[in-house]
Amino acid sequence: MRSLKASAEGLKKIKQARETSDKYAIDNPEWLEKASYMLEPDIKWGNGVVAVSIGTWKRFLRGTPVETRNFKAFCQVLKLDWEEVVDTQHQDKPSSIKPDWDAAPDVSIFYDRSIELSKLKQWLLNDKCRLVTILAMGGVGKTALAVKLAQEVNGEFDYIIWRSLREAPTVEKIIADVVKFLSQEQEIDLPESLGDKITQLLGYLRASRCLLIFDNGESILQSGSSTGNYREGYSGYGELFRRVGDSQHQSCLILTSREQFKEVRRLAGESLPVRVWELAGLSVEASEILTVRGLKGSDSEIEQLINHYHGNALALQIVPETIKKLFNGNIAAFLNSGTTIFDDIHDLLTQQFERLSESEKYLMYWLVINREPVSEIQLTENILHLSQRQIRESLDSLLGRCLIQSTNEGLTLQNVVMEYVSDRFAAKLRKLNIDPDNI
Ligand SMILES: Nc1ncnc2c1ncn2[C@@H]1O[C@H](COP(=O)(O)OP(=O)(O)OP(=O)(O)O)[C@@H](O)[C@H]1O
Ligand SMILES: [Mg+2]
Repeated sequence: MRSLKASAEGLKKIKQARETSDKYAIDNPEWLEKASYMLEPDIKWGNGVVAVSIGTWKRFLRGTPVETRNFKAFCQVLKLDWEEVVDTQHQDKPSSIKPDWDAAPDVSIFYDRSIELSKLKQWLLNDKCRLVTILAMGGVGKTALAVKLAQEVNGEFDYIIWRSLREAPTVEKIIADVVKFLSQEQEIDLPESLGDKITQLLGYLRASRCLLIFDNGESILQSGSSTGNYREGYSGYGELFRRVGDSQHQSCLILTSREQFKEVRRLAGESLPVRVWELAGLSVEASEILTVRGLKGSDSEIEQLINHYHGNALALQIVPETIKKLFNGNIAAFLNSGTTIFDDIHDLLTQQFERLSESEKYLMYWLVINREPVSEIQLTENILHLSQRQIRESLDSLLGRCLIQSTNEGLTLQNVVMEYVSDRFAAKLRKLNIDPDNI
């Protein structure tokens, strides 16, 4: 069961337990700090950083359902046996209201980020933020963090909706899509004007507590100009973000992006309902990201390596292979080599790319031009000068280098790799005097 609530009898027990405690005040932060230690004993909680919000605590005290793990932690804090408090008749929400996030990536392997998660949970649950941007350069881990966050707050929202903006859907399309989901397919004909469409969406965001996550926000921004300008035909997103941030409702829109959005920057503030989380890289707590890939080293070497890449999760996923292959697994030698390979991911990717066979390079370019995930069969049908065996071997090799990934939709490149190879391809075309935009 995802959520639990107290029975009438349970509520009496809770009240009694609270009254016999010397921390009687309902909003005494110690309740939350203690519960946080029950939930995550290894983290230093306090000074406003807690794993569970005051809102959840109050809901628990009122007998409203809360996430199972929070329910148990609160009972523990009150020294109550949760089984004697719980309402055994309580049913979770009907299964028709499911999170709509099938397209979100898998985060079953996830390190570090406890502080970020706890702070962001506070923004969502306690501070009731309406618009939150998670901002960082490519590969730092924005998407992974947003998925993990959504999973952890799942019980606190009526709906969770995940959408990627990577293919730059129009704002009209995305609103229609979200409204269709929230109305359970009832609202199919939306009003004509964008303003009215947004008004309709806001109605749903007021009526239910929804968490919308728009990933890859930079895809709707113009490149080659100062950050925050929309691509032609996408300025309607500005109005959507402004109204979601400005209007009264009980929902939240999380936007992950490599680039800042004008509206968000203008509306954001430390204690306002619109906020920006500038995501830093992974800390040394995430050293497993290196060691599970077979890279060994002293604590200080591992720490140096993580710092060298500013904790860029993508770089840390790729670098163990290079160190193992080129430096015989010696981290210090790698870091000391004058060519520390890269000061940024671009250098790393250059070196990885140079090591590819001609057929691997060809496949990389092909995947970049195609952009959409493809199957091996599609590749075989489209690439005629390579045999099926060559394609399979090259794909295996690229998978082994972590330069391509196999998803449910097919074979694809990670974002940063995709961009790098695109740039490289465009440079190649320019050398041949071909304008890449005309391809
Ligand atoms: N905390 C983490 N623990 C383990 N792996 C992580 C963590 N954060 C990110 N990763 C992994 O690192 C890679 C890059 O992370 P992610 O895709 O979230 O970055 P991003 O900031 O969203 O990049 P982009 O701007 O390219 O979308 C992914 O393969 C992801 O699974
Ligand atoms: Mg991402």
